[in-house]
Amino acid sequence: MNVVKIVTVVGLSAALLFVGSCKPKAEASSEMNPTTFGKTADGKQALLYVLKNKSGMQAAITNYGATLVSLKTPDRQGKFADVILGYDNVPGYENGKAYFGGTVGRYANRIGKSQFTLDGTTYKLAVNDGANSLHGGLKGFNKVFWDAKLLSPTSLQLHYLSKDGEEGYPGNLSVLVTYTLTDNNELKIDYLATTDKDTVLNLTNHAYFNLTGDPKNDVLQHQLTLYASRFTPIDSTLIPTGEIRSVKNTPLDFTTDTAIGARINQDDEQLKLAKGYDHNFVIDRSSDGSVKAAEVYEPTSGRVLDVYTDQPGIQFYTGNFLNGTEKGKGGQAYNYRTAFCLETQHFPDSPNKPDFPSTELKPGQQYRSTTVYKFSAR
Ligand code: GLA
Repeated sequence: MNVVKIVTVVGLSAALLFVGSCKPKAEASSEMNPTTFGKTADGKQALLYVLKNKSGMQAAITNYGATLVSLKTPDRQGKFADVILGYDNVPGYENGKAYFGGTVGRYANRIGKSQFTLDGTTYKLAVNDGANSLHGGLKGFNKVFWDAKLLSPTSLQLHYLSKDGEEGYPGNLSVLVTYTLTDNNELKIDYLATTDKDTVLNLTNHAYFNLTGDPKNDVLQHQLTLYASRFTPIDSTLIPTGEIRSVKNTPLDFTTDTAIGARINQDDEQLKLAKGYDHNFVIDRSSDGSVKAAEVYEPTSGRVLDVYTDQPGIQFYTGNFLNGTEKGKGGQAYNYRTAFCLETQHFPDSPNKPDFPSTELKPGQQYRSTTVYKFSAR
């Protein structure tokens, strides 16, 4: 099954779809959008864009890393709180190691031994996770400036051109990411990419959620349903073995709603390898297109997050590498398991796993994908 969304187009590139100026407008307005978000070490100014919908939900995004910085959603009393982890300004994102809210690429997740072979050529990638390449390498898409353009008060488009050879990947890859906040309290993320040379790609967003709105709390009481009856088991370096295994009778079975913490410390080989959940789940689907992949309910606030995607997989990660050394918004230390990620994606190490859905993109094709994070409360 190949569910990379590919449409052949003639003479159309993602870059051409990105039109207009990216400069912030200094209009006299009580609410400036964008505002400044600090400078990177080399003195470059980052900007912060805030999208607001009619019901008061807000999403803040910076052009550094096309990163989702904050997401304010209502609880069952209608009280808004920020439900994602992050930093107060760009130096946090520049120095941070957790990929908070970032757009991850060129290849989200891991590529084993940091290499793959395409059309008979072996490409050596930047090594940054043991012997493997993680989340695009040393300077992935979450660590570069994107050109940003507000399309409307509820939609922001960002463009990045990843050069041929960047972090070892072939082809000039033009990537558009569009964040849209709907009046249904959905944050929609659309991806569109084109290349001028055969390449591989895997794009995701790395938001860390804590639906209590207070990351002092861990996420172990959140109730999770994953519409995934199989997963890709990992080896000791977190690379899939190639097997696709049923979740049945394992602590990875979230096919009915279960507290994240209910079985997280069980004596299970897969949980031990990852120090918790850090696994790619194979989304149940009967055809291509968008399906509901996950639902999370947080009992104290009543917040609900539904995740929809057209991707074949979803990485469920429980913040096992958070240990208090990452200091985030307001100087707060983010501790072990104080957030979870649901990263819609292709399977890790697909370029080296011929039986996994293909992640190849060729010139003349378009990569298109959409993920929706929908919020409600009950
Ligand atoms: C992904 C990976 C994890 C970890 C985090 C970032 O979710 O699967 O192993 O690297 O990103 O810390």
